[in-house]
Amino acid sequence: MTRTQVGIVGAGPAGLTLAHLLHLEGIESVVIEDRSREYVEARIRAGVLEQRTADLLVEAGVGDRMRREGEVHTGIGIQFDGERHRVDLGELVGKGIVIYGQTEIVKDLIEARLYTGGPLLFEVDDVALSDLESERPRLAFTHEGSRQELECDVIAGCDGFHGVSRPSIPANVLTEFSREYAFGWLGILAAVPPSIEEVTYCAHQRGFALLALRTRKLSRYYLQCTPEEDLALWPDDRIWEELQTRVGLDGWTLTEGPILEKGVTGMRSYVVEPMQHGRLFLAGDAAHIVPPTGAKGLNLAIGDVRLLAELIVDWYRSGDDAVLDRYSAECLRRVWRAEHFSWWMTTMLHLPPDEDPFGYRLRQSQLRYVVGSGAASRSLAENYVGF
Ligand code: FAD
Ligand code: PHB
Repeated sequence: MTRTQVGIVGAGPAGLTLAHLLHLEGIESVVIEDRSREYVEARIRAGVLEQRTADLLVEAGVGDRMRREGEVHTGIGIQFDGERHRVDLGELVGKGIVIYGQTEIVKDLIEARLYTGGPLLFEVDDVALSDLESERPRLAFTHEGSRQELECDVIAGCDGFHGVSRPSIPANVLTEFSREYAFGWLGILAAVPPSIEEVTYCAHQRGFALLALRTRKLSRYYLQCTPEEDLALWPDDRIWEELQTRVGLDGWTLTEGPILEKGVTGMRSYVVEPMQHGRLFLAGDAAHIVPPTGAKGLNLAIGDVRLLAELIVDWYRSGDDAVLDRYSAECLRRVWRAEHFSWWMTTMLHLPPDEDPFGYRLRQSQLRYVVGSGAASRSLAENYVGF
């Protein structure tokens, strides 16, 4: 049996950021991850950081490469009816976003963790959480063939939607809220300079498309598809053709290039309440999922652990358990705002399979309002940069 202050399950953005923030405050933690380092460093996911997410990484000393290689954007595009409109985030709300891949953040955080010498164990198996209602919750796992047990003061469940932390909480304690969507995204990463200057959301009668980017040499594009779309039906030529149809404008076409990676992601909205039980605290995708249309998933995960780290520090200083009790309710206010915004962006921009002419006209009207009204575009901007 070994001891640590905070046991962290999962080395995604939430777990790694939490470990680093605690380290800066002199609090020990052990991070356990069931995948390999290579796997977590290669997993392609989000790419849009709210200003406050970027600021936190800089303040925590892990933002140097992001500052060099990331791009600050002060606007996004919204395209429909053959026209592209710009939502000027800078002018509307005085803030912007940073384009920097989640994979790069994870690499930077792993490097920082290894540099500071904090334990980070990859490829652990059979993770089990116990004694959550006691003052010494435990984590058991197998690492390099041997079974280990870790006694903690607090456990942070940062192990994503399919992890073991949330199911370790008795079912009668939790309430789940969810929405499934009748569509998914087919995403590609292409070795071609992005054809757009800013992230551009396109509503089209054949379905939604998104033009995003990672660097000046790497483009990230998405097409609305079915949740279980068969990738075998999507050779590269078909993907480019469909993108051209959905995003093309008079006098403007998308530049094509080699596709490096493609994948299909289903979409759901999900929240569990409360986000804590005894000494277990859920953070990030372990507690909530948003459809990617609002670019909120990663930002919510970082927001959760920012608060969790602050409360843990406060709790060690004060010894007052009431400090930790604030976690769930404070997180959930921010989480539900992002849930609503992500659901709203998703329903406004995607074509539902059963849309009737009334529904179509409502969406068109909403899109026209969002780009035509100062109040409506300001509301979108305020949520997009993080409220
Ligand atoms: P994760 O990144 O999921 O990290 C959890 C970690 O826990 C993983 O490394 C996992 O391997 C590990 N783990 C799981 N089970 C165990 C276990 N039993 N024991 C130990 N470790 C375990 N958001 C956007 O904003 N834009 C996007 O384009 C976008 N695309 C996405 C595409 C996909 C396929 C997915 C799944 C998510 C996407 N998201 C996107 C959401 C965003 O990436 C997540 O919100 C973000 O990764 C949340 O970070 P996290 O640390 O909470 O969870
Ligand atoms: C991305 O860059 O992958 C991205 C951008 C905006 C989104 C979702 C994903 O809303």
